[in-house]
Amino acid sequence: MNDRKKFSPSASSRHIEYRPGILRLLDQTRLPAETAFVEARTWQEVAEAIAHLRVRGAPAIGIAAAYALALHAHHLTDQNASTATFTSGLRTAADGLIASRPTAVNLSWAANRLLRYAQAQLAQNTTLPEIAASLDTLAQEIHADDIEACRSIGRYGSGLFDAQVSILTHCNTGDLATGGYGTALGIIRSLWQEGKLTGVYVDETRPLLQGSRLTAWELQRDGIPYTLIADNMAASCMQRGAIDAVIVGADRIARNGDTANKIGTYGLAVLARAHGIPFIVAAPCSTLDASLASGDQIVIEQRNPAEVTSFAGVAAAPDGATASNPAFDITPAAFITGIVTETGVLRPPYETDIQRVSAQPPERVAP
Ligand code: MRU
Repeated sequence: MNDRKKFSPSASSRHIEYRPGILRLLDQTRLPAETAFVEARTWQEVAEAIAHLRVRGAPAIGIAAAYALALHAHHLTDQNASTATFTSGLRTAADGLIASRPTAVNLSWAANRLLRYAQAQLAQNTTLPEIAASLDTLAQEIHADDIEACRSIGRYGSGLFDAQVSILTHCNTGDLATGGYGTALGIIRSLWQEGKLTGVYVDETRPLLQGSRLTAWELQRDGIPYTLIADNMAASCMQRGAIDAVIVGADRIARNGDTANKIGTYGLAVLARAHGIPFIVAAPCSTLDASLASGDQIVIEQRNPAEVTSFAGVAAAPDGATASNPAFDITPAAFITGIVTETGVLRPPYETDIQRVSAQPPERVAP
């Protein structure tokens, strides 16, 4: 009997739930100990949830920002805002949301889509309540499209492997980090469903433990076999032949393929190269940033050093210790074997393909 559970969208989609007036988010900072939710009613509350990683992962924060702007459009219409106040109010909210985390491009990608759509509607003299209602729909479409994109990424990524494989992954790139299903974890889910996965090595992902708290939680829920390792164990796992490929997600991919992802990703890419192991990046096209020529131009979020000097809230260094805490690093394109998007697998050199597939989708012009 095949005991590989099918992915259940109803179980996964609960981490981001919108109804006009409220965005309910699974508070990822409380996992795995507690399943608790935050209810955001304003864009500022959503920005707070993003900045504090209650919702995190590049596609997921883009989706949350889209819902936050829809929430705000309703607030503005409830207050009988003028067209000028509506426009400037949405812009202010978009700027605040985009500033909540600087590295993942999905935030500005989603926020700017909603702003452009609202502008197009205003140009057609659509009423403000109608625009607010259609922003709900657009945000829901962005959410649904991301789940669909992840499923395609899963299929294309799984197609890269013929035999049974053991995969190493870093950070969390699953349901929680996306609209649902996941990018790198989507490929892992597809491999499992197709009987091509022997197991997953999960980096714990210091300092905030997205691997051990979130990825292990998702894999365990789905019954996918995994082995949790501290980040400094990856090299030795590769050396003894335990890893067939590394698959990671991305927060922003520059035009040349240089990829920003969770701190520690670059080290894994170097290790994979040293051991002759494929290093695969999985991301939807909303994570591509063709406006940047290379990774040098990607802004890396610097987080509170206290996240490094403590472990799960307990001091792990002497009082007054100096620490550095970049949240992401840049993996040069030269170390990346392929980039799996919902349009297929991009191969080096990446520039032409990234420019082609990152072209904006056609704008919706009518509600
Ligand atoms: O700081 P985080 O937890 O938001 O970092 C997340 C990552 O780096 C993920 O790998 C990336 O966003 C891809 S999620 C599909």
